[in-house]
Amino acid sequence: MIIPVVVSGGVGSRLWPASRQSHPKPFLPVENGKSLLLNTFVRAASLPDVTDIVTITARDSSFKTIAEYEKLDAAHIASHLILEPMGRDTAAAAAAATVYVEMNFGRDAVILFLAADHLIRDTAAFSKAVTAAKTLAERDRVVTFGIEPNRPETGYGYLEVDKDNVIRFVEKPDSKTAAAYLDAGSFLWNSGMFCFRAGAMLDAMDRHCPDVLRAARKAIEKGIRQDIGSRTAETTLDAAAFADAPKISIDYAVMEKIANLSVVRADIGWSDVGTWSSLSECYTPDDKGNTAIGDTALVDASNCFVSSQGRLVSLVGVNDLAVIDTRDATLVVDKARSQDVKVLFEKLRDAG
Ligand code: GDD
Ligand code: MG
Repeated sequence: MIIPVVVSGGVGSRLWPASRQSHPKPFLPVENGKSLLLNTFVRAASLPDVTDIVTITARDSSFKTIAEYEKLDAAHIASHLILEPMGRDTAAAAAAATVYVEMNFGRDAVILFLAADHLIRDTAAFSKAVTAAKTLAERDRVVTFGIEPNRPETGYGYLEVDKDNVIRFVEKPDSKTAAAYLDAGSFLWNSGMFCFRAGAMLDAMDRHCPDVLRAARKAIEKGIRQDIGSRTAETTLDAAAFADAPKISIDYAVMEKIANLSVVRADIGWSDVGTWSSLSECYTPDDKGNTAIGDTALVDASNCFVSSQGRLVSLVGVNDLAVIDTRDATLVVDKARSQDVKVLFEKLRDAG
């Protein structure tokens, strides 16, 4: 048995103004018209031997998540929602979900930990990679899916690998280090998807981030469970207990520290949709490299990504821009500076 756990949260600040606290990144639609979150759910539900899917997300996203999942007719899947009263990052989310799986399915259940902000084009290759990872997980390895890097990206984790063994995991190195890793040729990107036996992860957390695990366990034990319809069970974490979890990602809290980390190389057409530039790469552009969504008009523009949610948005004689128009905010950014939208987001947030 394999239990997919979908982690859906965070703000997605580099995708402002479409992604916000009130409309987080997993709800953004991509080229097939479905949200990133629904694409993730569909991918998980299509794997062999999957009967239950756990999703951990913000309490405020509960209705929206259920509404997304209802778009898929998946009568064979029981959906389990774990709701966070506040975001405590991915280590706490993983800890709460793993404790939940242990309680409901036992320590030997194998978890497939999936981020809700990925696109995967080759689902058959993905399914094959999951099968390989499950075999390793059953032998008590914690498994990550490794992606062949093609640029010195600083927003990812890097795996130094020797066959299927991970010698070193380095989360988000600086640009000089990332360039050196790319040159070395023995590094892969961490895809941010993991596969492990529930018991193996609980042991690792007990050793490397016991405070996170303790808070998450208490938050589940004191949580309130409620059935929504016949196919969805919802557990709201206890707020006081969960607030005690240190805010840290699973990459720093666990993956950088453990010795039993393995890798399955995943040539699956993977992308993390983190910035407007990476989102634009998920669409098939026209012959001038432009992608235009909604009411738009372009003259002599090339390599632009334009999205309008209502108004007519027009570009003349410009190149390499992302232009995002929403009801109450417009962003114009050089695609090469997409990472810096986060700086803008923080500036706006601090200004209140
Ligand atoms: N439930 C919940 N609660 N989910 C969260 C939270 C939280 O507090 N914070 C983030 N998430 C979800 C996001 O929605 C996303 O699906 C996933 O957890 C990963 O978080 P990101 O914030 O997108 O992480 P990242 O992209 O910077 O880095 C991770 O992914 C990279 C590849 O995409 C790391 O694992 C890197 O090592 C990896 O290379
Ligand atoms: Mg991400």
